[in-house]
Amino acid sequence: MQIGSIDVNKFIAENAILDDKVDHRQKFHIMAPVGLINDPNGFCKFKGKYYLFYQTHPFKAYHGVKYWAKLTSENLVNWEFNGIVIKPEFWFEKDGCFSGNAFVENDKMYLFYTGNLWKDGREFEVGEEYQCLAVSEDGDKFEKLSEPIIGLPDFSEFTPHLRDPRVWKHEDKYYMIIGAQKINEKPAIMLYSSEDLVKWNQEGILLDSTHGEHSKGYMWECPGYAKINGKDILFICPQGMTYEGNITKNRHQSGYLIGNIDYEKCIYHYDYHNYNLLDYGFEFYSPQIFTEDNGRHLCIAWMGLPYEDDHPTVKDNWIHCLTLPTELIMKNEKLYRRPIKELELLRGKHIPIDLTISNSFKADCFELLMEFDSNCDVNIDLRCSENMDSLTHLYYDSHSNTIGLKRINQRHLYDGSRTIKLSDAKDKRKLHVFVDISSIEIFINDGEYALTTRIFTDKHDIYNNISTNGNLTLLKCWELG
Ligand code: FRU
Repeated sequence: MQIGSIDVNKFIAENAILDDKVDHRQKFHIMAPVGLINDPNGFCKFKGKYYLFYQTHPFKAYHGVKYWAKLTSENLVNWEFNGIVIKPEFWFEKDGCFSGNAFVENDKMYLFYTGNLWKDGREFEVGEEYQCLAVSEDGDKFEKLSEPIIGLPDFSEFTPHLRDPRVWKHEDKYYMIIGAQKINEKPAIMLYSSEDLVKWNQEGILLDSTHGEHSKGYMWECPGYAKINGKDILFICPQGMTYEGNITKNRHQSGYLIGNIDYEKCIYHYDYHNYNLLDYGFEFYSPQIFTEDNGRHLCIAWMGLPYEDDHPTVKDNWIHCLTLPTELIMKNEKLYRRPIKELELLRGKHIPIDLTISNSFKADCFELLMEFDSNCDVNIDLRCSENMDSLTHLYYDSHSNTIGLKRINQRHLYDGSRTIKLSDAKDKRKLHVFVDISSIEIFINDGEYALTTRIFTDKHDIYNNISTNGNLTLLKCWELG
């Protein structure tokens, strides 16, 4: 297929998947109409509306040449698809318009992104990466600069990997961080500054991979920034993390560091022991963090991981989706990530569950809220097949004070488990669970921990069970969608 010669929006309109004709299409999560979706990009509010863009290859369910698709919303829950707005046109973005961020200033939306060129046309081998800018006055038309705003790195110190710009303002200057890679194949975050958002000066390496668990990988993709409770939070996606023995963490992660930026000296002061994940489940990557004017820090991520594309949906020409919108709150030097209030708009009929009568209920898309004492064990089986050979098991073990998540026998997804040891000293435990057709998002203790996972069950696998050996102080359930 000669991609360059195709009208991409026409292609999408003509090939959009009819959700009820294929398996696993979600009811209330953002998906591409057809093809592949990966990172959310450019999350912002502009002229009263929320904007969200995402990386997509619409023509096939694989990581081909990337475009930016645009979505708008009034309430962060119902999104309208507005088509592809950034596509490869210039020489410096020939092989894809990669991830980036939006910055709204002077009534204009500035979209910063990475122009990608494969090495000698060999797909997936990075050759050159440039930082680029597109500007919009109305949120519909995006005018690109015809030259990159930041060129290639110094190859005596860095490899060609330099991508995913994130821009913010501090005092009267603009700053940008970009994920980079040193020639020893260790990650770094570069800092740039600008007076006008167009001309950028390199300040230096803001974060180097010398210490800490987060330094184990080979690249920090999609860096993010937010000022939360007076602290400078750096979000990073460490790629290629290796663990010995029983692996209960993802190889490609999404975590954050808490510190303070010394802009003059280009130094990030932080405690390198304090690296935490934004999510402890199976699929969560490339979060976009957007701080609203009212100070709320919103987060939407890709519900997928690099190099994990063997999903049963590929045969129907689509793959992956985004997470629900959540908000970040700092408590005790940790970020809590919890569902936003607006998600209550999704609630449909109340599902009555009375455990004294039965511990099972049937539903495919639902929200479950539970509270119980910390000495009460809880076992929940979600979206089980009738004979219980395929399911997702969520449990709280009061003895070890542990939350566990197990994926059991689900086509194309590896079986595995994730466990979290909770902090003590809380007499109540809370679980908040969102189940869609092919995903489960779990929030523990109002977002102290979150676990996100895809599930690929049969559409008849709608059996759910809850069992406890103690008292539930709250149990509520709603249909969703
Ligand atoms: C992360 C990522 C980014 C890149 C984009 C390309 O998932 O690899 O680093 O910009 O995806 O789609």
